[in-house]
Amino acid sequence: MEEKKKTDSVETAGIPSSSAAAAAEENPLLSELVVRAVGVKKLYELGGETVHALRGVDLSVKRGEYVSIMGPSGSGKSTLFNMIGGLDKPDEGQVFIDEVDIAALDTFELAWLRCHKIGYIFQTFNLIPVASALENVMMPMLFAGMTQADAQDKAAEILKRVGLGQRLLNKPSQLSGGQQQRVACARALANDPAIILADEPTGNLDLKTGEEIIHMLEELKSEFFVTVISATHDHKMLAASDRVVYLTDGSITDIKRREDLDITFGTIGGQTH
Ligand SMILES: Nc1ncnc2c1ncn2[C@@H]1O[C@H](COP(=O)(O)OP(=O)(O)OP(=O)(O)O)[C@@H](O)[C@H]1O
Ligand SMILES: [Mg+2]
Repeated sequence: MEEKKKTDSVETAGIPSSSAAAAAEENPLLSELVVRAVGVKKLYELGGETVHALRGVDLSVKRGEYVSIMGPSGSGKSTLFNMIGGLDKPDEGQVFIDEVDIAALDTFELAWLRCHKIGYIFQTFNLIPVASALENVMMPMLFAGMTQADAQDKAAEILKRVGLGQRLLNKPSQLSGGQQQRVACARALANDPAIILADEPTGNLDLKTGEEIIHMLEELKSEFFVTVISATHDHKMLAASDRVVYLTDGSITDIKRREDLDITFGTIGGQTH
């Protein structure tokens, strides 16, 4: 099963993958890495001032890992997400997805990658307000060329999986915050992505609902064998993480493995957060 996934990822990258296949053949360990950021720097010019949002970030994420990016507001979490997700380009450095340098992709290839390889979840859910839960989840499938009937069946199936089988026809305004984020999770899974990028997925939710979403992401990670990279301020996220990457002022200052964290669910170091 594991072996099959590895082969699939290189063969079905769908983007010019001969270099990826060659690289993976040369160094089998590379096929394990779904994301590799190398020396990523990003500057913003704001009112004559230069903001160093990322100061040279190196980060490798393995297939099937759950990585949380922790850091205070302004530390560069969303900027790093935008780079990894191909939503923005680094000023320096490279981002590889399945060992394909995304800077080498043309507009069409990048759009393909964003549609098929990555599922995005945002703090504010970003659902289409006039569309039902079902239609919101079908949307990426239709963009990817699936027929209406197939998209409808698949979207209903994923929504059932996230516990919203009874809410298919509800619009976002008719759903609670937690339910809306479940729809967003279902939408992120629409095209069987290799990676889910979640930027503060629990930021707008209360404690209990936030925990439910984290549990769900953890389960989906195992069930669909996706890699989850999630930015957060929220210490609840840590218990679900295989690794926690600490970002401070645009640089990675620490990386901890789950076994090195003194946590139980919802607490760290014995203190509730
Ligand atoms: N489009 C932009 N133009 C100018 N500066 C920006 C832009 N986007 C981000 N920045 C700056 O880059 C730095 C990193 O911002 P970023 O949004 O990545 O932080 P963050 O860790 O996600 O913060 P938060 O936890 O508040 O979401 C901040 O100083 C921010 O002001
Ligand atoms: Mg942010």
